[in-house]
Amino acid sequence: MRKIVLILLSLVGFTCCKETQTNKMAINKDFFGKTKDGIAVDRYSLSNSAGMRVQIITYGGIITTMEVPDRNGIFQDVVLGYDKLSDYEESSPYFGALIGRFGNRIAEGKFRLEGKEYTLAQNDGENHLHGGTKGFDKVVWKASEQIQKDEVSLKLIYLSKDMEEGYPGNLSVEVLYTLTQDNTLKINYKAVTDQTTILNLTQHSYFNLSGTNSILDHELMLNADAYLPVDETLIPTGEIVNVAKTPFDFTKPKKIGREINDEDLQLKRGLGYDHCWVLNEPNIGLRLAAVLSDPKSGRQMEVFTDQPGIQFYSGNFLDGTNPKKNSDEYYPYRSGLCLETQHYPNAPNEASFPIVVLNPQEVFTSQTQFKFSNPKLDQK
Ligand code: BGC
Repeated sequence: MRKIVLILLSLVGFTCCKETQTNKMAINKDFFGKTKDGIAVDRYSLSNSAGMRVQIITYGGIITTMEVPDRNGIFQDVVLGYDKLSDYEESSPYFGALIGRFGNRIAEGKFRLEGKEYTLAQNDGENHLHGGTKGFDKVVWKASEQIQKDEVSLKLIYLSKDMEEGYPGNLSVEVLYTLTQDNTLKINYKAVTDQTTILNLTQHSYFNLSGTNSILDHELMLNADAYLPVDETLIPTGEIVNVAKTPFDFTKPKKIGREINDEDLQLKRGLGYDHCWVLNEPNIGLRLAAVLSDPKSGRQMEVFTDQPGIQFYSGNFLDGTNPKKNSDEYYPYRSGLCLETQHYPNAPNEASFPIVVLNPQEVFTSQTQFKFSNPKLDQK
């Protein structure tokens, strides 16, 4: 009898603990700092019952921390970032930030829309980059939290006024970051405008799954048979080139460092990889775009998106001047990489590229997911 009671008790205990575990989604808020204009910036920490934690600040919607386990359950922060708000304000290469209105480059900062020419900031040599002088990465977003049984979300809202940074239309943007129980971070974008405008939203996290100073031993697969070659100023030439037999072929997992220093005009122009790949199956909605893995730690990240392109940037401009968080060191050359899901660069000026125009009656929506796991990877 005692035995039966014990068995029953342990069964009750088991179900009860499992239950509390599945419900262990959490979101907490603390103060991160004040901008130089005196605006308070909060930091939200989203966590799931598997122990994954993502921290996001309201300044730039920046992901400052993403802690995910290796094959032995050891958690490591897999994104580059700063300790201090002032570093993000003064000298950030877009670490972890939301990018808009137009991610990537627009040639000479000019585009035409409905017969009118618009002029944007030339903040990257002669070109416009990542939304201009004060893009979505440098504004403070309004935040609200949502918690459900198996998901926890942070909703960020920003109203970009008509002609802000030179773009037409009052644009209302909503970004929903959601952490799920299966170690996926979903990013849902939504935008509406009151005048015809252009739009290309993305997320600019720099990933390093190994916790070491280099991403060259990471393996990458890109679900893309073609990429967009660039001119000397990193503007796509307009050609769509097959990756076969080039260093741009990531159709099967390949070490990033394997061909990065090859004699190749495109690698020279990008100073490494800094190109947009043309994702396969553009019309099926959310699909696998990339798989990044670190064979040493066993960490893997899959990227899913409904966007037509992905910019793979191998951290070529990191030059040892950006202070590492929680450390006295600096981020060296190629110590982080970006996988920016997006439309094609300079699309407003390239008629053959998919359209990036948003009209007043439309609602722009898009989704990207970063899914972390520890599959059996060959240890190297
Ligand atoms: C671009 C790089 C640029 C970097 C800025 C990337 O999205 O492709 O060319 O230098 O952003 O940090």
